Amino acid sequence: MGVGRAKISIIGAGNVGATTALWCAAAELGDVVLVDIPEVEGMPQGKALDLLQASPIVGFDARIVGTTSYEATAGSDVVVITAGVPRKPGMSREDLLVTNVQIVTKVAGEVRKSSPQAIVIVVSNPLDAMVYRVWQVTGFPHHRVMGQAGVLDTARFRTFIAQELGVSVEDVSAMLLGGHGDTMVPIASCTSVGGIPVTQLIPAKRLDEIIERTRHGGAEIVNLLKTGSAYYAPAAATAQMVEAIVRDKKRLIPVAAYCDKQYGVGGLFVGVPVVLGANGVERIIELELSPKEQVAFTKSIGAVRKLVEQMNELCPI
Ligand code: NAI
Ligand code: 2OP
Repeated sequence: MGVGRAKISIIGAGNVGATTALWCAAAELGDVVLVDIPEVEGMPQGKALDLLQASPIVGFDARIVGTTSYEATAGSDVVVITAGVPRKPGMSREDLLVTNVQIVTKVAGEVRKSSPQAIVIVVSNPLDAMVYRVWQVTGFPHHRVMGQAGVLDTARFRTFIAQELGVSVEDVSAMLLGGHGDTMVPIASCTSVGGIPVTQLIPAKRLDEIIERTRHGGAEIVNLLKTGSAYYAPAAATAQMVEAIVRDKKRLIPVAAYCDKQYGVGGLFVGVPVVLGANGVERIIELELSPKEQVAFTKSIGAVRKLVEQMNELCPI
């Protein structure tokens, strides 16, 4: 990232994009460029100016710019893509496929031209297909393209476990695999509270209920909000990934990363534990799975493959 502040461009200045900008700026992760479409001219500029005016109060230094063109994003170190429509009640993430693939294809083309060296974090849904499309269009090496899902999904899991046990969320550590959807696979053997395996603290039947709630954590919020989907926790999760990259933290966290031989995935982006640092996805960790977890992961990979095939058929590049 060199000397000076990192440049973080966020494409899509809606709920997730603007809130990611807030977390990134407040943590002084770098200068932020917020981009949206000409149809909403003034909106990204207004949000950027508003956010900038929070800086003397909160106490952070960052250049924050809103725009509807890619000029100001040139040479970004990190690009976050949140452009696209969110879910409404009754919709699955997959229902967003046709609309969002067109948006994301366009955005990825712009990113390729304006920030050819960037590390790209995709957030738009359906996540596992959108990240694949960004990789196809940019042609960037695998380790520089990834999706945000697992940090959010494990955060939901950790929240529910902490609530169940009446302990600090900070003491709950969790891991999950697979796609960002109902087929995600929380790994109970990698979930602990203060170092104690969660299976020693919560009975199996109750843990299954918590896992089921986690799987539907996004829909739970969509049904409450009615007008869109979650954004505080998704944005915090995305900012954590930005931080891992710009501060070269080597965080070991779940990320939608390109797996070929790993786990026998065969060339798809799926949620796996990775080491995230200045070079992007620096390592993929292969866990030993129980037979039950392996079956669930295989099912999840199948769902991701079907989604990517559907995308490539409906909207080829
Ligand atoms: P939103 O509707 O608040 O914001 C989306 C923004 O994208 C809008 O401002 C829209 O004008 C903009 N946009 C549309 N086309 C664009 C283009 N070509 N270039 C630049 N900007 C464009 O939606 P929200 O809540 O911010 O969600 C954004 C996306 O993120 C959705 O697809 C949602 O499903 C997804 N999401 C994914 C999560 C994850 O964990 N991976 C979590 C939460 C949301
Ligand atoms: C979520 O899980 C909508 O994917 C988003 O909240």
